[in-house]
Amino acid sequence: MKILVTGASGRVGRATVAHLREHGHEVLGIDQAPSPDGPDGGSIVDLADFGQVVEAMSGVDDRLGGFDAVVHLGAVPAPGKRPNATIFANNAVSGYNIFAAARMLGIRKVVWASSETVLGLPFETPPPYVPVDEEYTVRPESTYSLGKAVEEEMARHFARWQPDASIIGLRFSNVLTDDDYRRFDSWQDDLSARSWNLWGYIDHRDAAQAVRLAVEADRTGAEVFIVAADDTVMRRPSVELLTGALAGLERRAPIEGRATLLSNAKARRELGFQPRFSWVDRVDA
Ligand SMILES: NC(=O)c1ccc[n+]([C@@H]2O[C@H](COP(=O)([O-])OP(=O)(O)OC[C@H]3O[C@@H](n4cnc5c(N)ncnc54)[C@H](O)[C@@H]3O)[C@@H](O)[C@H]2O)c1
Repeated sequence: MKILVTGASGRVGRATVAHLREHGHEVLGIDQAPSPDGPDGGSIVDLADFGQVVEAMSGVDDRLGGFDAVVHLGAVPAPGKRPNATIFANNAVSGYNIFAAARMLGIRKVVWASSETVLGLPFETPPPYVPVDEEYTVRPESTYSLGKAVEEEMARHFARWQPDASIIGLRFSNVLTDDDYRRFDSWQDDLSARSWNLWGYIDHRDAAQAVRLAVEADRTGAEVFIVAADDTVMRRPSVELLTGALAGLERRAPIEGRATLLSNAKARRELGFQPRFSWVDRVDA
């Protein structure tokens, strides 16, 4: 497929561009920042500017065009990195621009980065049950997350307006790399250090795998999937993490060993997602 990837200079974007190319796809990356991977990384485009988005999705100069799919990863990636209103204006408007331009240009596949935050992070109000999944109504607790929730809602309507389109939102857990794994042993004695996302994470290479599977999936409509590793960031069994306000929560599925509390069952079942990277293997190797 010919695939346009936004946010191509970022953490998930670079892994995704490389992974899609390894799997034989033709990829053009766009980003507002130059790619550390050089000119192959992509072109400079501001996603918050609809004109620039439409032109890029129509093909930048003589490069590609005629895209079969758009992977939209470009965003300010967390609360606190910029003022709230700036994050909302950048992320929600960029999402609108991608969905609207795809519809305008007849691009029927959009895969985009939602976020685990819509599940209610940092869980000062406990989730309704564990493991958390895609079955309860979003609970954004920050402006960043509100933007993602608004994008999920927009995606549902764009899919309704274009019934032959597929718009898949991937609710990534905290995206981490081998460099990050070096820190993991530092918090093993402190349950509170990573309780904010129920001790979840996803390796950047597995995030890229989920993007590819979503692009290659033969489906229509708007859908969301939690994309998390099979395990937690802790060495102790996951049931031992469920203390305090989490202790009495309904357990909707068996929680065995170090199993993730952010269920990736839907992504496994419907996309064929199989995380290949666990931090434990990388740290203990
Ligand atoms: N990193 C995480 O832990 C995490 C978790 C959940 C969801 N996400 C989402 O995944 C996506 C990718 O995140 P990441 O970790 O690779 O972040 P990143 O900051 O490494 O990459 C994001 C890229 O988007 C680009 N960008 C931002 N605004 C833009 C604009 N207006 N025009 C053009 N480019 C723009 C940035 O220049 C950057 O290169 C984001 O949508 C983020 O919200 C990330």
